[in-house]
Amino acid sequence: MKISQVIISTLLLCGLVVMVNGDIPVHCLFHQVFGDWTFYRTSTSFSNDVVHNTCALTNPLPNVNVDTIKLRLLAPDVVYDEQGNEGFWTLIYDQGFEVVINKQKYFAFFNYTQQGKVVTSNCGQTFTGWYHDAGIAVKKFGCFRGIRTGAPSESTHEHELMSAPKVDLKNKVFTNNMEKINTINKSQKMWQATAYPQFEGKSLEFMRRIAGGRTANKNRKAALKAQKERFQTIFQTQARVNGNKKIITEEDVNALPKEFSWTNVNGMNLVVPVRNQGVFCGSCYAFSSSDMFGSRVRVITNGTKTPVYSPQDIVECSAYSQGCDGGFMYLVSKYAEDYGLAEESCDPYKGVDSVCKKDQCPKRAYGTNYAYTGGFYGATNAKNMMYELYHGGPLAIAFEVYDDFFNYKGGVYTHSTALKTKIAEPGWEETNHAVLLVGWGEENGVPYWLVKNSWGTSWGINGFFKIKRGTDECDCESEAVSADIYSY
Ligand SMILES: *[C@@H]1O[C@H](CO)[C@@H](O)[C@H](O)[C@H]1NC(C)=O
Ligand SMILES: *[C@@H]1O[C@H](CO)[C@@H](O)[C@H](O)[C@H]1NC(C)=O
Ligand SMILES: *[C@@H]1O[C@H](CO)[C@@H](O)[C@H](O)[C@H]1NC(C)=O
Repeated sequence: MKISQVIISTLLLCGLVVMVNGDIPVHCLFHQVFGDWTFYRTSTSFSNDVVHNTCALTNPLPNVNVDTIKLRLLAPDVVYDEQGNEGFWTLIYDQGFEVVINKQKYFAFFNYTQQGKVVTSNCGQTFTGWYHDAGIAVKKFGCFRGIRTGAPSESTHEHELMSAPKVDLKNKVFTNNMEKINTINKSQKMWQATAYPQFEGKSLEFMRRIAGGRTANKNRKAALKAQKERFQTIFQTQARVNGNKKIITEEDVNALPKEFSWTNVNGMNLVVPVRNQGVFCGSCYAFSSSDMFGSRVRVITNGTKTPVYSPQDIVECSAYSQGCDGGFMYLVSKYAEDYGLAEESCDPYKGVDSVCKKDQCPKRAYGTNYAYTGGFYGATNAKNMMYELYHGGPLAIAFEVYDDFFNYKGGVYTHSTALKTKIAEPGWEETNHAVLLVGWGEENGVPYWLVKNSWGTSWGINGFFKIKRGTDECDCESEAVSADIYSY
């Protein structure tokens, strides 16, 4: 059961990650969400059966066997109940929130309605979400809905469907633009472009799916980096490793090596091999997250265990994402804690949505301690990413794919106008593709991240790419996610 039953854009939600293209078209920011909320809850008497996902069919309002709790969500990540108990909360991109208080976890997407291309985001109320005791593989779930009390009017706002295509994507095709490729090769020395025959003549719809969707809408964008900087200074530079918060000092950062990669730890490669998400499925979020878990098993077992987890199982079975229409790494990590991951061999990748069968892969690997790097959405930065990557293992990250990225062949990628085209919205950065961060280094004096893509090994540097580090290139330092592996 997917929330996408509510007409998400039928378009190509590409896939790759994020909202703009897939996922749900709701768009809610921090200042539209924090404040006082009432949660209307059923009892925790539902099974967590992925096939019979009861919460999606249940409406705890009005007053059918519900109780209520009142919560106050504050900046940056603190929540209180009426008794003064303290908990934690985070936005999940602009889609929903997770609240953890009194040893219970609540997750819901924000409500929206849609008429044609006009979406009304109702950030002061949620669709029916899930709650349960904090823990791994918890069996009893309750359903809840949240309503923000005394919400200011800005919590409800109209916006254009962000994934609305301007051109006929089905009938227009991608051609490798040799002039552009030559210009990239000649005009700068940081990275090189090439023509990939596998992309030539593919419909723009295909390119959207593999690249995360919609081409950047320049009209919606303006340079207001200061907004983001102001938002970041609210937060301390913190990291989480093995579930523990840690404030990172300059010393911690200086102690990190100049160059590091999980693909080569004393000659050992501890990263799941490059895969190909294929044409028809916006499943990058499932690849990047499941490969984070697979790689982290390699890390903690020193390469003696080499599982590969199944993106198909996530696409088919997780009610926390939208199948081939997209999803989020945070919510796959939550799925790994609540439902576990299947092995690739049990549910091999098909690259299309299909039916989740009850008990189709009874052997599950569980994750735990999932979090945005830095602790919550908005707190991620280059320093805490380096720290968590080095001390914990590969991270699932997201960034914004622009057209020139398709032709990437080598070197340290930058999109020259990326910084100038940031959306001017506080505490939110647009991303559309999810990948796996595995290392960092410096090339000709330019600091870079080493990242694994899911477009096969013939693309980029054997399936990997380098992107400029430390300047939030294409928003790639805006939402890293990590989680520990609990059992495998
Ligand atoms: C979403 O919000 C609208 C406007 O308040 C409401 O009419 C609708 O019933 C809500 N949808 C769901 C599924 O809760
Ligand atoms: C650009 O540079 C790359 C890497 O050196 C090379 O493979 C490619 O053929 C070049 N392409 C063009 C059109 O110059
Ligand atoms: C990890 O495995 C490598 C290669 O087998 C070995 O050389 C190394 O000593 C192992 N490290 C640990 C900590 O066990």
